[in-house]
Formats: sequence, structure tokens, C-alpha cells
Amino acid sequence: MKIIVTKNYEMMSKEAAKLIAAQVIRKPDAVLGLATGSTPMGMYKELVHLYDEEFLDFSKVKTFNLDEYAGLSGDHQQSFCFFMHRYFFDHINIDRQNIHLIPGVSEDPEKAKKNYLEQIEASGGIDMQILGIGLDGHIGFNEPACEFSKGMVTTDLDESTINANARFFSLKEEVPGQAYTLGIQTIMMAEQIVLMASGRAKAEIMKEALFGPIRPQIPASALQLHKHVTVIVDEDAGKLL
Ligand code: GLP
Repeated sequence: MKIIVTKNYEMMSKEAAKLIAAQVIRKPDAVLGLATGSTPMGMYKELVHLYDEEFLDFSKVKTFNLDEYAGLSGDHQQSFCFFMHRYFFDHINIDRQNIHLIPGVSEDPEKAKKNYLEQIEASGGIDMQILGIGLDGHIGFNEPACEFSKGMVTTDLDESTINANARFFSLKEEVPGQAYTLGIQTIMMAEQIVLMASGRAKAEIMKEALFGPIRPQIPASALQLHKHVTVIVDEDAGKLL
């Protein structure tokens, strides 16, 4: 595991964007696993900047998002689908057919989850997975549990996650109680993983996840077992590492 501590959020974002840029240059048809949340927003901004400067070509890149709120359709402003288009896809030359997002609303969620996993498999697997981390150690929407999740799962969001994400909604009651997420096993199958964290509030959980015991109660601790993880934190989130 490689840990990069940067001065601030902006530098963290630039470092993460550099890793994605290198991946896309190395392999123009790279398969990227993408995350949402406030943490990667600066990274997407930097990638759009690199695209505008004509350093990057996303025309052959494929993407798979990590998770989605159950019950929010893609046009809901707080859906991860909406987020991805707003901050990234609408600003680059990605082929729309290469964008894969988990449907928050579908007639048959079980079938939708199965299809999604099959599409990942058919693409040859994820080359680089971007991750943020929740205050309780969740990655994607894999909340603390009794076992590391497999395949793709529907999760009940913990109270702390609902509280943390309520800032994006007008009312806390509007935050969905469930979500769909790639499980830990699928995340661990990515060739490379980039875990990002910023801010003092993430310092304790980063220490616990990276140096504490490996256990499903801290889902991110599974990353200690992955062969190619790069952690990028700002000084505040990296304070205890
Ligand atoms: C969300 C997402 C995660 C994200 C995490 C942290 O609920 N499902 O993918 O990494 O919480 O969010 P933030 O980056 O806003 O702190």
C-alpha cells in the first residue's frame, strides 16, 4: 500500500486525477470504477480540466459506478447518476454507451444487479477503482457488517451515514434508507484501487481502516489485503497515519 499525504484538498484531487490520467494514457480503453460524494468532486474537476487542455481522451474509456440510492431515479438531483453527469460525464468526450450506472429504480432490482455484475465481467473487470470512505469505514455503501459482502448488494444505510448525507438533501427524511452497492469482494477484484480522504473528521477512521484489525465491521479494512492500493489524503485526514 502506498500512502500519499498532500497539503490540502486541491492537491489531493490533483494527485488522484493524475493517477486516472496515467491509467487512461496507458490504456485508452481503461475500465474505471467511479465514486461519488464530496471527496472526489475536485478530482473530477481536475480531470475535466485535463480534458479541456487536450491531454486526455475518454472516447474509449468505460466506467462503472460503485453505488446508488435505492428509490432515486437518475433525474433526481441527489442520485449518483445525476451527480456523475453534472460533475464529469457532461464535460468529457466519453461515449454514452460506455457509461454504466446502477439504476436506483427498476422493475426488477435483483435482475438489474445481476446484469450490472455481468457487464463488469464482460468489460474485462475494473482496472482502477476510485473510493472515498464514510465516517463509519464504509466504502461504496458497504456498511459495517458481520461479513465482507459479495457481488452486488442492497444495504440498509446506518444512521451515521444518513446523517452525514443529509447535508445534500433539503430534509433528513428524504435520504433513502437503502442503497445498492458493489460488494467488498467485487471492489477487491479491481486491478488497482485509489482511496481518497480529506478533512480532520476522517482521520480516526483512516487510521483504523489502514492500520487496525481487518474485519467487516470496518469495511475499508479489507483494502489492507489488496495488492495495489494507493491512498491519497490531505494533511487533515492523514494526521494519524
Ligand atoms: C457516501 C458514498 C461513498 C462515499 C462516502 C463518503 O455515502 N456512498 O461512496 O465515499 O459516502 O462521502 P464524502 O466523500 O461526501 O465524505
